[in-house]
Amino acid sequence: MGLKKFTAALAISASFFAVGAAKATNIEVTHWWTSGGEAAAVAEFAKAVDASGDKWVDGAIAGSGDVARPIIISRILGGNPMGATQLNPGKDADDLIAAGLMEDISDVAKAGDWANILRPKSQLESCTKDGKVYCVPVNLHSAQWMWTNRKVYEDAGIKPPQNWAEFVAAAPALQAKGIQPLSLAQGWPVGLLVNDVLVALAGVDNFVKVYKDRDVALASGPEFGKVFEALASVRQFVPADKMVPQWNEAVALVIQGKAGANIMGDWAGGEFQVAKMVAGKDYDCLPGLGVTPVLNTGGDVFYFPKSKDPAVTAAQKKMAATLVTKEVQVAFNLKKGSLPMRADVDLSAANDCMKKGLAILDHSKAVFPNDIQMIDRDSLNQINDLFTSFMATPAMTAADAQAKFADIIKNAPK
Ligand code: GAL
Repeated sequence: MGLKKFTAALAISASFFAVGAAKATNIEVTHWWTSGGEAAAVAEFAKAVDASGDKWVDGAIAGSGDVARPIIISRILGGNPMGATQLNPGKDADDLIAAGLMEDISDVAKAGDWANILRPKSQLESCTKDGKVYCVPVNLHSAQWMWTNRKVYEDAGIKPPQNWAEFVAAAPALQAKGIQPLSLAQGWPVGLLVNDVLVALAGVDNFVKVYKDRDVALASGPEFGKVFEALASVRQFVPADKMVPQWNEAVALVIQGKAGANIMGDWAGGEFQVAKMVAGKDYDCLPGLGVTPVLNTGGDVFYFPKSKDPAVTAAQKKMAATLVTKEVQVAFNLKKGSLPMRADVDLSAANDCMKKGLAILDHSKAVFPNDIQMIDRDSLNQINDLFTSFMATPAMTAADAQAKFADIIKNAPK
């Protein structure tokens, strides 16, 4: 090769590499995973995106979904979109999609055969509008779990409770020892607690009839009435001045042995793992509050707001594909406490709680929709506010709370 040709070849390969390097695109990712377990899990996603050749720019928003969601949505509406964002599977992004602000990733879903590989189907369905896929589901989280510290009960001379009734029966003995039977955080965790008790005591079918089918007679009838009565008597186990600001602080009280139990989604499992506690030995995780093993199809999805920069669009699509690869699904979900979106992965490292969840997932009758898959966010916020006042105000009667609840259900947009 003559010098001229050699120099030309060098120039071509240099420009090739320059293009190669320019392919590493920054992708700002907003999410609300800031607790110990959540941060450990999301680090797996960041690692995978970086390894794919792009750069994960972390946009964590502290304070959980209620704080993060409005910030995320207003940034997209206001023309300052991030590269990718966490949301829950459900109705939260409907308006953004309708306004044409979200990237259609149907080609990625098709290339990855998501329709056949990802399960349960509800999660991909939640991402699909008018036949187009707008988000990638990354996990299945369910809200119906009771978490107990076995040692706290054993030290009080009681067998650790295995269900809601045993938990209620054991509470006075813990109180006599100065230990709070139930820890609770303010805001949406109160809504989660009340809904979990409604599901456990009134049954999944009735719960879905109220939230999805808007059966107002059932919501204001005796079956739900007895649950509100049960909840009224639980208020003494968790006085308002003992409620903590964040869900993970309430879980920490159980981990530290300062409270007997907490009712929280399976993301609480990530906190127990960070604390190096062993499920079935140091703590129990009781799906359906130990009454009937059930799961709801909550979880997390990532949306990709539209970008004018083709490099960003390419990075977004690459990220969507990366998050559901086998290795990433295993690494992330083992730390998150959630169930992976695909069945064809190696889960030999699964802990007891994940095994329980996977066993329930095989029984479709025990799996029901997440609240935001059934009813809009505004109604859910009203329900959370009502349940918070009810649990924090001993003077509010069960009948009063139930009537207000039935009213919200009645007025919720279909
Ligand atoms: C949920 C989310 C979970 C978990 C939880 C608490 O909305 O699906 O991944 O992190 O919030 O932050």
